[in-house]
Amino acid sequence: MWAMLAWARRRAAEPAPSMFGRMFPVVTTSDTTALLPLNQQSDQELAGLAQTMLEVQTIANPKGTSAGLTYFGQFIDHDLTLDSAPSPTGTVDVESLVNGRTFAFDLDSVYGGGPKTSPQLYDGDKFLIGTASDGVSPDLPRNADGSAILVEARNDENLLIAQIHLSFLRLHNALVDEGMSFDRAQQTVVDAYRHVVLNDYLPQIVGQEAVDQALSQQVSAGFYQPGSKDSPVTPVEFSAAVFRFGHSQVGNAYAINDASGFVRVFSLDPTVSDLRGGRQLPSDLIIDFNNFFSELPRDEGEAPALLGRAIDTKISPSLFELPIPGVAGGGSNVLAFRNLVRGKFYDLPSGEAIAEAMGLPAIGEPVFAEGTPLWYYVLREAELTSGGAEFGPVGGSIVAEVFVDLLRLDGGTKESGLPDVSGGDFRIGDLLVAADQLGGDDSGAHTPKPGRGDEARPTRDHARERSERHPRHRHNHSVDNAATEPSLQLFVLPTAS
Ligand code: HEM
Repeated sequence: MWAMLAWARRRAAEPAPSMFGRMFPVVTTSDTTALLPLNQQSDQELAGLAQTMLEVQTIANPKGTSAGLTYFGQFIDHDLTLDSAPSPTGTVDVESLVNGRTFAFDLDSVYGGGPKTSPQLYDGDKFLIGTASDGVSPDLPRNADGSAILVEARNDENLLIAQIHLSFLRLHNALVDEGMSFDRAQQTVVDAYRHVVLNDYLPQIVGQEAVDQALSQQVSAGFYQPGSKDSPVTPVEFSAAVFRFGHSQVGNAYAINDASGFVRVFSLDPTVSDLRGGRQLPSDLIIDFNNFFSELPRDEGEAPALLGRAIDTKISPSLFELPIPGVAGGGSNVLAFRNLVRGKFYDLPSGEAIAEAMGLPAIGEPVFAEGTPLWYYVLREAELTSGGAEFGPVGGSIVAEVFVDLLRLDGGTKESGLPDVSGGDFRIGDLLVAADQLGGDDSGAHTPKPGRGDEARPTRDHARERSERHPRHRHNHSVDNAATEPSLQLFVLPTAS
């Protein structure tokens, strides 16, 4: 209880900015155990490597992870790291860079500083909700130009992450409708998020063994030295390389719902429809989460949920055509090249050097005489060790250690009153449809659209119609309210032995 109160107090305070730093010091520092940076490659060499990564044929994740995991990973990253420095053209002193997000699993990307500090997000204790192009289905709240009203603009970069963000807004609102205070609803949502990060997302990407290994050691006992508890250092090995692994999980096109057919993530061809964000949600592209998370039920005879891409050295064509505003002027629209350039100018050591520092055998032949860029290395390691099912030893240990340390730093045991909708194993998909189970009708707040007036208020909730697809959820519906204490122990982080 005391831990929970302390946590709630800390969260209520202004988020502390985190500085970027290093997990593995390089020789530019005075550390005698420092590694050599891999920064000798020319732009042409890096562009050549990026070009070899263009996927010719999609390879599904061999252990069958669902497609939605990819975008939940992107959503997690946007909760953890924001490096606003433009694509670099010269060496960067990474220790001088500020992370624009709190380096914590606290959903600052969603809540900002709360209603007082980020009033543009809220109507009272609830989030503003906008409407999709049909005028009734929920969407992110938007400005007249279609841009979303968010503290984390990247969460409207494509329609998949935008609709994941929307699920969080709707869940918070549904909990407030159930009688929770703002703080309680926020804490419940964050606890449930942390639960699925630790128990569902992390084991799927690194394997349970790596999670258990990280859980068996105390904070700072490994390679990650967070420094301050309130503003842990954000390691560039993680943000500029290893956790960018998700770029390889991105598929080229998705059946976003059963009627949409396969729609490309991005295309620079204006005649091709795509899933770019930054615009009012077209109602024919409302996500059917059942297509994206295998834990959610399927209709009889319906094809299984979409599979995610393998974690490998291939990148889908969509990510060679980034349509993000400002990209053309601020670097390449080839994401692989942007990652490699950032790794070079951030003086990241090679994957081989990091493997050696971790006491692990280097896997594969070096791509350049001096070594393999870390981002490429962890992708190839995944490809060679598990056929792309999950991270290999270097990537997996780094991600598991950072995740578990951050979860530990941010508090211990949590509990949550969300319904456990999947028979005792509350998973990401369950969280994303939880608002529907709670009856989220989005009626408390919406963004008034110029010229639309109150007609914009949802009168019919398509999302709720979709919840007919989750019959199990309604049976298990057990909701916290002012009168009952939460009964479900969703988030229990074991203490290190
Ligand atoms: C359609 C999907 C995605 C797009 C279009 C996208 C695009 C981008 C872009 C443009 C950058 C900045 C590149 C640079 O200039 O250095 C970036 C950074 C990053 N991305 Fe993605 N990304 C996607 C999915 C993902 C996924 C699935 C993950 C992880 C699971 C991920 C993790 C990251 C990380 C860690 C960064 C660094 C963020 C920072 O610290 O500022 N991304 N991404």
